[in-house]
Amino acid sequence: MQKLRMNLSIRQKEIPFVVGEHLGDTLCQYLLGEFPEHSIFVISDDTVNQLHGAQLTSHLSAHPGFKELFSFPAGEASKNAETTASLHDKLLSAKAGRDTVIVAFGGGVTGDMAGYVAATLHRGVQLVHVPTTLLAQVDSSIGGKVGVNHAAGKNLLGAFYQPTAVFSDIHYLSTLSDEEYINGMAEVVKYGVILDPELWQQLEANIAAVVKYDPSFIEPIIRRCIQLKIDVVEKDEKESGLRSILNWGHTVGHAIEKLSQYGVKHGFAIAEGMNIAARLSHQLLDYPQELVHRQKALFANLGLNTVHLHDYSLDDIWNVILTDKKARRQLPRFTLMRTETKPELYYAIEKQELEDAYQTE
Ligand SMILES: NC(=O)c1ccc[n+]([C@@H]2O[C@H](COP(=O)([O-])OP(=O)(O)OC[C@H]3O[C@@H](n4cnc5c(N)ncnc54)[C@H](O)[C@@H]3O)[C@@H](O)[C@H]2O)c1
Repeated sequence: MQKLRMNLSIRQKEIPFVVGEHLGDTLCQYLLGEFPEHSIFVISDDTVNQLHGAQLTSHLSAHPGFKELFSFPAGEASKNAETTASLHDKLLSAKAGRDTVIVAFGGGVTGDMAGYVAATLHRGVQLVHVPTTLLAQVDSSIGGKVGVNHAAGKNLLGAFYQPTAVFSDIHYLSTLSDEEYINGMAEVVKYGVILDPELWQQLEANIAAVVKYDPSFIEPIIRRCIQLKIDVVEKDEKESGLRSILNWGHTVGHAIEKLSQYGVKHGFAIAEGMNIAARLSHQLLDYPQELVHRQKALFANLGLNTVHLHDYSLDDIWNVILTDKKARRQLPRFTLMRTETKPELYYAIEKQELEDAYQTE
């Protein structure tokens, strides 16, 4: 078990990130120490609840304030205002007061939505993340972005709301399907490509270990990714600049998710989005062609090459990316790269430029 820390100096808040195996007891000890008088509610999805809910709640029962676990149907389709409202109803019916801790127990959908519920209940109650997917452990549980989707687009309703702690128990990853595991690898590759050339090479050199859950291989990788994201968020918590680097591949990726009605998983969608971002970077900023090819080859070797932009019309993609939060004056703004380590943030893209990148596959 190892602890990393995020220091958010403006609010003098220090957030512990605990990474290890079988952390149920550690989590309960933390809650007893920090919130001995609080009520503890867990929010999860049905799948995670069925697989791991009983074990987690048996640990949490050692806390006198442990109340209940509420779950919702698993999947991105649940990440909306209706599910949020029903969670608010359940919490308020159970008399959840301002002295509530919400434990977000699940993947990125659960973390984003339970975080949004925590941010809005009584103008904000305590939040602890217990991420159970690779994607949530390396990405969505870090940095305080919470929210839900709207019919008009992804993550359009939300807030910046930091948890008090994050417990990433890699044991949970053992029950993930191969597809969900690889889905999370897309974000791991992202860190390598935009922030850590050594990590990128390590992934390329160890494909067999990367594609299957292997605790001894994945634990240090998860710690590395958490640290990389902490470093970015500490410098720019509210995404007024540098943090936007983490949106590499996400502009087109989010559009693919939405156009597929969330049938395409986040990681698979952003992998194709990263391929497009790399091609645009080459086309507009001389990003080396070799890096475009290396990223594409790594995704292919990992099986993250099943989604193609060509499956969607350029007009549809364009219309969706115009609803992206970063769009300004009717132009989407992309995160691009000039070199392996030099980003170009908020780069406005014309439709013809996207079309050119679309054609060069
Ligand atoms: N807040 C952020 O900064 C941020 C960053 C990246 C992604 N996201 C969001 O994260 C979401 C995607 O996250 P996700 O891929 O974790 O999706 P998810 O939460 O839907 O989980 C994927 C599937 O895995 C199942 N699952 C979860 N843990 C499991 C386990 N241990 N064993 C077996 N099955 C398990 C879930 O029930 C679900 O069916 C998207 O909504 C995306 O927008 C947010």
